[in-house]
Amino acid sequence: MNTQVIDVNDTEWETHLVANKWLNYLEAGKVLHFTNLNFPLSEFEKSFFTPEIRNPKSRNISLDASGHLKGAVGNAEVQAGLATMMARYRAHAQTLVNSYFPCYTEHLSVAPTSFRPNQIETRSQSWRADDKRLHVDAFPSRPNYGERILRVFINVNPNNVPRVWRVGEPFEDIAQRFLPNTKPYSAWQAKVLNIFGITKSLRSEYDHLMLQLHDAMKHDLNYQSNSPQLTIEFPSGSVWVCFSDQASHAAMSGQFMMEQTFHLPAQNQYDTNTSPLARLQGYTGRQLI
Ligand code: SIN
Ligand code: FE
Repeated sequence: MNTQVIDVNDTEWETHLVANKWLNYLEAGKVLHFTNLNFPLSEFEKSFFTPEIRNPKSRNISLDASGHLKGAVGNAEVQAGLATMMARYRAHAQTLVNSYFPCYTEHLSVAPTSFRPNQIETRSQSWRADDKRLHVDAFPSRPNYGERILRVFINVNPNNVPRVWRVGEPFEDIAQRFLPNTKPYSAWQAKVLNIFGITKSLRSEYDHLMLQLHDAMKHDLNYQSNSPQLTIEFPSGSVWVCFSDQASHAAMSGQFMMEQTFHLPAQNQYDTNTSPLARLQGYTGRQLI
């Protein structure tokens, strides 16, 4: 089980030694843990590390592709400083992904960058929204038709508090365990959800099954406690990368993290057979999108 997390000890965000092994690990659903990267913060930036910087009405602070900052409070100088720090993180994440996984570069799209100043332990949520439970990422309102969710995380905690995750069993095991009990897809229900604006586009059978897996995992407390899993501490300064729609994860504790999401069409993987879409189509014997 401990092979679900792979340490990468390189000290630079850009690698000059392109090795397929990192790509293979990533596409096998592993979490790559970069233990030795550096992301220096200025004294001014360190002043942003307080939960009060987040607008209580927003879940996270985010920076969109055009440089627009959302979800933060503070004067113009603070807002500009936050945007600069987050844009610098985005550039580092892009450098990493483009150099470690060069075959993705021309196919990636860049989602907003997020800064999460809230403490994980203090959030209380419904079981479905509770990311302290093992899950694969799948979002009820955002069907993605098999597009991959590639995420680059950094723990920027200024007090050396680790971010603690649990990492669960391989996607193939999750699918085989939970698929037999999923509710069948209903095309008319998907249409209703779309007409009422509950989903941003029509939910495909793939999206339906991914949500069913996400919910079935989170709902099953016995699975949460007793399934194969590993607790891993990401120390302050650590960077970790995974396909979060494939790598089972739960965020248990910690505070102050930045995250960059990239989207990759499933057909642009190096080995397209490893995607959740290919796996689920294999197990069900059907086209799911
Ligand atoms: C998640 O993607 O489930 C949460 C990640 C985190 O907050 O560390
Ligand atoms: Fe998640």
